[in-house]
Amino acid sequence: VKVTFTLHDGTVREAEGEEGLTVMETAVRNDVPGIDADCGGACACATCHVYVDEAWTGKVGEPSPMEDSMLDFASERADNSRLSCQIRLSAALDGLKVAVPEFQG
Ligand code: FES
Repeated sequence: VKVTFTLHDGTVREAEGEEGLTVMETAVRNDVPGIDADCGGACACATCHVYVDEAWTGKVGEPSPMEDSMLDFASERADNSRLSCQIRLSAALDGLKVAVPEFQG
């Protein structure tokens, strides 16, 4: 499953993640900078915040209520904000594009 990360400085990083892994795990394994994931994927830190590309928001879906309340702690929350540890990769998400915010937490 291919995931494209656009960093805040405009650098584009492509990563290959296995189905079942989260977008956060894929970023960490591929050394994509800007995703701190302080809590290790427990939906408790909001430092894995990403912006989902407009073309993908429908497929990725809405945040759960727990994620939604955690997103309020993310800096510069937007309509397409998600916590990347709560997005699990599947074949349907092959080609997913997300942007990494400049600051986390
Ligand atoms: Fe902490 Fe996602 S890694 S909320």
